[in-house]
Amino acid sequence: MGFFIVFAIFFMQIYITGAKVPAVIVFGDSSVDAGNNNQIGTVLKSNFKPYGRDFFGGKATGRFSNGRVPPDFISESFGLRPYVPAYLDPAYNISDFATGVCFASAGTGYDNATSDVLSVIPLWKEVEYYKDYQTKLRGYLGVENANTILSEAVYLISMGTNDFLENYYTLPNRKSQYNVSQYQDFLVAIAEWLVKDLYALGARKISIGGLPPMGCLPLERTTSFFAGNGDTCKDDYNKVALVFNEKLGSLVKRLNLELLGGKIVFSNPYAIFQQIVRKPSNFGFETAAVACCSTGFFEMGYMCDQYNPFTCSDANKFVFWDSFHPTEKTNRIISQHLFKTVLSKLA
Ligand SMILES: *[C@@H]1O[C@H](CO)[C@@H](O)[C@H](O)[C@H]1NC(C)=O
Ligand SMILES: *[C@@H]1O[C@H](CO)[C@@H](O)[C@H](O)[C@H]1NC(C)=O
Ligand SMILES: *[C@@H]1O[C@H](CO)[C@@H](O)[C@H](O)[C@H]1NC(C)=O
Repeated sequence: MGFFIVFAIFFMQIYITGAKVPAVIVFGDSSVDAGNNNQIGTVLKSNFKPYGRDFFGGKATGRFSNGRVPPDFISESFGLRPYVPAYLDPAYNISDFATGVCFASAGTGYDNATSDVLSVIPLWKEVEYYKDYQTKLRGYLGVENANTILSEAVYLISMGTNDFLENYYTLPNRKSQYNVSQYQDFLVAIAEWLVKDLYALGARKISIGGLPPMGCLPLERTTSFFAGNGDTCKDDYNKVALVFNEKLGSLVKRLNLELLGGKIVFSNPYAIFQQIVRKPSNFGFETAAVACCSTGFFEMGYMCDQYNPFTCSDANKFVFWDSFHPTEKTNRIISQHLFKTVLSKLA
């Protein structure tokens, strides 16, 4: 290949991958946690086999999948490292976190009461860790360089499923205070607070993630089945997710008008996720109704361990890894779709 072709390809790659994004910074729940829960006192962990068996080195990092989760793929798409390390993971330090860091905690939500259910990191504390990170980054790179990274970085926010499934529909408290529409508004108001807080702290490129069709998670299908509804998705939960996503979409429009110089995007996985669940074979999967791990009907976390004889041998045939979380292959398809259609605009 001639020098000029190499040269041209090099610049095309910078253009396509968007080399302007220096870091990916993550807030949220198990959809994006890279292992923060390993370091705290909760039962909600996944730092043991077979979790991570298709990750780099087959390592069970605490990601709730057989391999990578969406921020890992998104970081790679921006031309950064192919994974985003967890802030509390002692294997990494500020020099690693300068190009990406994850504050997410499995089991958390927008609502403080959701994080209390399994004693995980509440959202406000993820933000406290982020402030701590800012201080360390300024100490490490100098104030000016650190501030450039903080304002050019892409911020990914992904949570909300637990607020409905682990909290609102499981425990009596919130349901006695709010009807579902009011509860959605309560959560959206917290999402608004979060984006404005991050903006005030210097963030400019922020993605709010939408909810998946949460009535189609294998756990919800199983409970629906035992309630006598046959093997189908729980449509009422899917409707709640759709309405919540509409509300988040409106919030994003409003925030873009209010926050000068801010670029807020809505990364909505619902439609692509729904297509995968409806027609798994179109995407090379064999099933979306049961998960790979154990029996696939209800297990996750400690119930999905290496001693379980039923776990599948090829996770790529399954849309879901455990009863609540997608396989790496599903994460890859959804992440690449969101990058192409939405997130690449932040480069
Ligand atoms: C981070 O860790 C690496 C190796 O683990 C070490 O070489 C480096 O000095 C550390 N950097 C800071 C800023 O602590
Ligand atoms: C959540 O808890 C934090 C810390 O106690 C508090 O500052 C915040 O206002 C609470 N959020 C909501 C929406 O109640
Ligand atoms: C929820 O409560 C509000 C206020 O009382 C009411 O206007 C609304 O119709 C209710 N929505 C649903 C879905 O019940």
